[in-house]
Amino acid sequence: MAPLALITGAAGLIGHYLVKTAPRWAPRWEVRGLTRQDVELTDVAAVRSFWRNLQPQAVIHCASQSRPGSCQQDPILARRINVEATVLLAELSSDIPFLFLSSEQVFDGSKGWYVETDPVNPLNVYGETKAEAERLVLQNPQHGVIRVGLNAGFSPIGARSFVEDMRISVKSRKPLTLFTDEFRCPMPAGMTARAIWELIEVDRPGLYHLGGADRLSRWEIGQALIPWYQELTGQMQPGSVKSSTGAPRPPDLSMRCDKLQALLSFPLLGFRPWLAGRTSGAIDLWDYESP
Ligand SMILES: NC(=O)c1ccc[n+]([C@@H]2O[C@H](COP(=O)([O-])OP(=O)(O)OC[C@H]3O[C@@H](n4cnc5c(N)ncnc54)[C@H](OP(=O)(O)O)[C@@H]3O)[C@@H](O)[C@H]2O)c1
Repeated sequence: MAPLALITGAAGLIGHYLVKTAPRWAPRWEVRGLTRQDVELTDVAAVRSFWRNLQPQAVIHCASQSRPGSCQQDPILARRINVEATVLLAELSSDIPFLFLSSEQVFDGSKGWYVETDPVNPLNVYGETKAEAERLVLQNPQHGVIRVGLNAGFSPIGARSFVEDMRISVKSRKPLTLFTDEFRCPMPAGMTARAIWELIEVDRPGLYHLGGADRLSRWEIGQALIPWYQELTGQMQPGSVKSSTGAPRPPDLSMRCDKLQALLSFPLLGFRPWLAGRTSGAIDLWDYESP
């Protein structure tokens, strides 16, 4: 019988790509995606009983309050899902591979091109919860943490990725200001899913960075999208992160990913080369073409 891998947050952006791409990248696994409808992860009793019944052989934990603004508004709820639920799942998975998806927002963004050994210094509640959960997860030497960069893709509800957010803003005629001084290493969710499945397959626990090879400003990211999303033309205006309100925003969260790259069978492309290699007939711009 195929071993069972559980994916939490399967209705979210990355969890959805992990489930959808599993037949291609993880054929030896039986994969089950869990949504909030299956189990509310802050309900300790429900989670315990769910895990007892399913007895997974690996867990990829994507469920999270992943919006920094929401975490800032409700830090208690953010901590319950991002830290407490993560610790519970890690405990229930104590003798199997467990991979926790963290974020580059554990860094303060003052330096850029972060490596795994750089000290964390989160500026916002989201980053604080991720940094705390990482530390607790990594106490188990069988477990892994992957700090994921900004992901582009199509989510089941159509309102999760930054590309979806931008299109929604334009459609609803809201001003779309993109910072010229905030830098990220964006990547397509299909590439994220492939890298995560390969990391599960090689079974190398520990801490990893996963992002695209290019460091781009938010403004540059928006410009790169115009050929694919014509509705963005003329709708974006440049701005500065210094004028932003809400949760504090680390300016430069570029990451080096050499440690993970050394384990992968394919190159972690930059955002622009990825888009340059797409064809106009691609069914999903953010995933590999079907084999
Ligand atoms: N996407 C990115 O650009 C990015 C960048 C850096 C790090 N990450 C990290 O990567 C992971 C996956 O990100 P993502 O973009 O796929 O996130 P996402 O689209 O926001 O999805 C998160 C999922 O978690 C579920 N969830 C939240 N609280 C829950 C609870 N109490 N019980 C059960 N399910 C719950 C949500 O369910 P509902 O749909 O019901 O709300 C949602 O489907 C997260 O840990 C995120 O912090 C993502």
